[in-house]
Amino acid sequence: MTALDLSLIRKTASGRTSQDRPATFSLDRMTTLQLAKRTVIFNVDAASIASLVDAAREDIPGLTSNQMFQTVANHNPDTFWAIAKRDRFNIACLKGDGFLAVLPLTHEGTRRLIDGRLNTKMPELCYIARQSERPAGIYVWAIHAKGTIAAAIPLVLQKFSTPLYRGVNIYSRPVTKGGLRVLEPLGFSPGAHYDGLFAPNLQMFDRSGDVPIQPAARDPVTVEVVRSMDEMARVIAIRGAIYMAEQRCPFEEEFDGNDFSATHLICHKDGEPVGCMRIRYFAGFAKLERLAVRHEGRGGGLAGRILDAAVDLCRKKGYSVLYAHSQKRYLKVWESRGFKQMGGRELVFSDFDYVEVKLETEKHPQSITLDDDPYVLIRPEGRWDTPGILERSASRGVCNSADAR
Ligand SMILES: CC(C)(COP(=O)(O)OP(=O)(O)OC[C@H]1O[C@@H](n2cnc3c(N)ncnc32)[C@H](O)[C@@H]1OP(=O)(O)O)[C@@H](O)C(=O)NCCC(=O)NCCS
Repeated sequence: MTALDLSLIRKTASGRTSQDRPATFSLDRMTTLQLAKRTVIFNVDAASIASLVDAAREDIPGLTSNQMFQTVANHNPDTFWAIAKRDRFNIACLKGDGFLAVLPLTHEGTRRLIDGRLNTKMPELCYIARQSERPAGIYVWAIHAKGTIAAAIPLVLQKFSTPLYRGVNIYSRPVTKGGLRVLEPLGFSPGAHYDGLFAPNLQMFDRSGDVPIQPAARDPVTVEVVRSMDEMARVIAIRGAIYMAEQRCPFEEEFDGNDFSATHLICHKDGEPVGCMRIRYFAGFAKLERLAVRHEGRGGGLAGRILDAAVDLCRKKGYSVLYAHSQKRYLKVWESRGFKQMGGRELVFSDFDYVEVKLETEKHPQSITLDDDPYVLIRPEGRWDTPGILERSASRGVCNSADAR
């Protein structure tokens, strides 16, 4: 059950140019930070649920009854999220412009979703988890978000990144070809699985590899490979704040089309996202770029920690040559990690002058090679020392071959 402005979502996620919509607030000119500033999400009362669902019914024929949405929201208030433009938002009179509804499903509910036995129009409450209960799967039940408020969908999904929901896969049923394209850029892919069952007609956002939130007691600083949409949103927020706001970099230069062909690192301090970096790979060398640390965290060694993690990851992948463009004023940052300025080539982009720097190092002694166990090769990026979910799945043996045909 989906009705939203597809073109806007696509442009948000891909960073593509808007050629057909030079509107003042077109999304291709807005950062996630700005989007978050322009939209709000909130729970609403029964009357508002009814009016939002009535409005959606014009676009989504066959939408389930107002009463059903209300019953599910009474059972678990985390199921219905109204979305509004911030400038129309009035705390004294909560009224949404659209909504996103989910079904947090129990183990049996998720099994039934995948094998097709769950009645998603009139779901039985026994298959829906309570508010304080960790669900086994989250089903995107209905979306009605037209125009720029469609950009708030990632904000709603981010609600499901709290410890209670972290690592729980999110499922959706694309009703139209358009619906399929909407959620894909957010991290959904065709085909869904749970507990050995597979549903080719559903989409799934696989969050099973999400790391548990680090206990702050140990090292307050962490640098991790970005593995989820939530973490990518944090990277985009940091880069929006630093490159676009501080350095006045135009959106299309900062989000240059290379973000989906890269590894991203996210640095947290005391659980707060503070820095990031992007790595792209070429034959013979890896390129480190978009190093950024939030203003208030600078001067405390965070960039050094991010660079160390990037170098370590590249060495484990088998690279010994790392290349970067250093803003001239930050050459010392790179030199602090052994990078050396190359030749005399200089370049200018996005209003700053750059020099080429290079680190010649050694591959990691346990760097990945073709001789490695194939189960090591399918482990999550950067976690090659720890058994991954796919090798655990091998214990189930081959039991789905007939279904998959
Ligand atoms: C560049 C940036 C990432 C540095 O972050 P940071 O967390 O303050 O850096 P660190 O504290 O880890 O410093 C790492 C090293 O660089 C040095 N350094 C940091 N900022 C420096 C500066 N402005 N000038 C000279 N040296 C600097 C530090 O002294 C340290 O050296 P050391 O390990 O020998 O003591 C941060 O200033 C930033 O985000 N700038 C805006 C984004 C940007 O333009 N990035 C482009 C990088 S090419």
